[in-house]
Amino acid sequence: MQFPEEALERLKKLLERAKKSDLPEPTAMTLATSDRQGNPMARTVLLKDVDEQGVVFYTNLNSRKGRQLSDNPKAAICFYWPPLSEQVLIEGNVTPVTDEEADAYWASRARESQIGGWASRQSETLPHRFALLRRVISRTARFGTAPVPRPEFWSGFRVDPHRIEFWSNRPSRLHDRVCYEVMEGNWTKRRLFP
Ligand SMILES: Cc1cc2nc3c(=O)[nH]c(=O)nc-3n(C[C@H](O)[C@H](O)[C@H](O)COP(=O)(O)O)c2cc1C
Repeated sequence: MQFPEEALERLKKLLERAKKSDLPEPTAMTLATSDRQGNPMARTVLLKDVDEQGVVFYTNLNSRKGRQLSDNPKAAICFYWPPLSEQVLIEGNVTPVTDEEADAYWASRARESQIGGWASRQSETLPHRFALLRRVISRTARFGTAPVPRPEFWSGFRVDPHRIEFWSNRPSRLHDRVCYEVMEGNWTKRRLFP
């Protein structure tokens, strides 16, 4: 479901405030996925796009998260910005971004990051660090001065939200929580006890 406009605007404003703060990675978010047995796993990724369709991040499709998302295309996201004392939680179904979107983002990455993307077999066992450097050298030589194409194992996912919650710190732990949730096909808005 498309983000409710009000919620999208609030999220965008928080991201703008986070970017103006001294946080080193204001777009970092915790991404939780789960395997076929329902075992949850979480890690940090960077938000790369947000609009009414959802939030987008990029990764290696063969990584642990990539494989989990192909088995079980659902995710939960948590942003927490300590200088803002604000948290945002998003839950939704996950769909792959289009090849055009992934190509456009790939093209915006630094060449070194593109080579790194080719060299990393993300989440597989690395016998020793030199094995990674050897792969970087071999990919650097392979592409020479030519543009580095996007690997077919590297792309992005969009979390299409069905729940978004804003948590704001308040004195005496009487925090403010506003939750937008799809119920019977429609967005609802309600407050939650802290
Ligand atoms: C600040 C930060 C940003 C990160 N951003 C990304 C990202 O955008 N994409 C990504 O695949 N991994 C990113 N990582 C690495 C992941 O946290 C994780 O180690 C990696 O994706 C492998 O996860 P997996 O084995 O669960 O698939 C980031 C890590 C940190 C600490």
